[in-house]
Amino acid sequence: MKAHIRTYGCQMNERDSEAVGALLANAGFEIVTDETVADVVIVNTCSVRAKAEDKALGKLHNLAASKHAHPARIIGVIGCMARRTGAELFEKVKGLDFVIGPRRLSVLPAVIESIRNGGGAVLDIIGKADEPANLSGHINTGIASFVTVVEGCSRGCTYCVVPEARGPETSRPATDIIEEIRTLVSAGVKEVTLLGQSVTSYGRKAGIGLEHRQSPLGLEEQFPRLLEGVATVPGLRRIRFASSHPSGVTVELARAMSSLPAICNHIHLPLQSGSDRILGLMRRGYSADEYREAVSRLRTAVPHLAITTDIIVGFPTETEADFDATRRLMEEIQFDNAYVFKYSPRPRTTAARWVDDVPPETKALRNQLLLEDLDRVGLSINQRLVGRDVEVLVEGESLRNRTRWSGRTSSGKIVIVEPVDGMSGPGMITVRIERAMPQTLYGTITGREKERA
Ligand code: SAH
Ligand code: SF4
Ligand code: F3S
Repeated sequence: MKAHIRTYGCQMNERDSEAVGALLANAGFEIVTDETVADVVIVNTCSVRAKAEDKALGKLHNLAASKHAHPARIIGVIGCMARRTGAELFEKVKGLDFVIGPRRLSVLPAVIESIRNGGGAVLDIIGKADEPANLSGHINTGIASFVTVVEGCSRGCTYCVVPEARGPETSRPATDIIEEIRTLVSAGVKEVTLLGQSVTSYGRKAGIGLEHRQSPLGLEEQFPRLLEGVATVPGLRRIRFASSHPSGVTVELARAMSSLPAICNHIHLPLQSGSDRILGLMRRGYSADEYREAVSRLRTAVPHLAITTDIIVGFPTETEADFDATRRLMEEIQFDNAYVFKYSPRPRTTAARWVDDVPPETKALRNQLLLEDLDRVGLSINQRLVGRDVEVLVEGESLRNRTRWSGRTSSGKIVIVEPVDGMSGPGMITVRIERAMPQTLYGTITGREKERA
């Protein structure tokens, strides 16, 4: 049996798709990148904006139509849309075989088996107790891997569908996470990204299994303690984490970031808006000043920290003055990069009860203005790196030009280099930066870094 997984949405979905691949591979499936030869096609979906759902639905309709040519093919939906939309998906997409929620992925091998044996369509989106999926298998172990640490979200920002689509926040035991990372490192992984909708909330709801151990840095909070624990894995060179919430940017987090050399010089810290009125309506739980304080706490501890963010433009009732407050705060903070989204009302969220009153042209204009600002600021930050030697973890060939390599600095910036003789494949190198673009750096390899023991 050949299985193909198509992924939409965020890094958490990418990670889930990989874990599903590992589950199916263990069950004897061959995971293929070519959809046309697949006996099972699984679409991992995202619900965050209407457009994301439309894309996945379009794909599913195409796949359903392909059943004429592949009558025995099994087609299924997993991910956020599976849980949010549920049984309705069977009506929308005729010929769909299964709809499995993000917390229920471990049932997939058995579900596919039962469908193959004529058992009929399967809907399984929540299960009995909404327990965490806690999947730890990996198949794409290149040099950098994702590791889920927090599943779901209980924050309830008024615009957001994630709490409904992924269920309440639960943290995986630290001991499972560290074990998973050990296994990855022994397979050659050098960088891990710890994932959660709000990773900084890690372990706030229940014990994580590190309580009885002494913290070398004298830390008490759970997320900094997890970072400290992960940093002890021998051979692990880089630790990233996303997304952080400003409320989790504590003195201890700043201390962990400045004291543990493996933690990368970057934080993704979604701001969403610079207007206190809009932040209140979004129910984000911080003011613009509290966001500023979080940033200054981090920058004091880690002087050249790169900071990226998420912004929503055109939230209901957003005025010119609100938007200007966002623009000014962004200018003040000098973000390295940001994802800017046009507000999209989502069913059953609190904000969906309010009129989506910012016209599409205004959303588009605000989006465009922020992107122009970001390019200008990004370029000026990147230009400061020209002429310097930086450590780059090469991840593989550049997608744009396969004769070149692509990697990242600790600060998360993409660096493109020409390969040199005698060096092959991914690994840590030193690069002299020669040219800067707003989102990309170009340079020459000046050395292959010796392995730290
Ligand atoms: N948990 C993360 C991000 C979750 S979704 C956090 O709290 O920051 C990723 C981004 O999508 C969000 O940061 C937000 O900027 C955007 N987003 C979420 N819901 C949206 C909506 N209804 N319309 C537009 N953008 C949205
Ligand atoms: Fe959505 Fe807010 Fe949770 Fe992020 S923190 S996933 S924006 S509810
Ligand atoms: Fe989308 Fe779900 Fe991620 S809604 S952004 S795939 S958590």
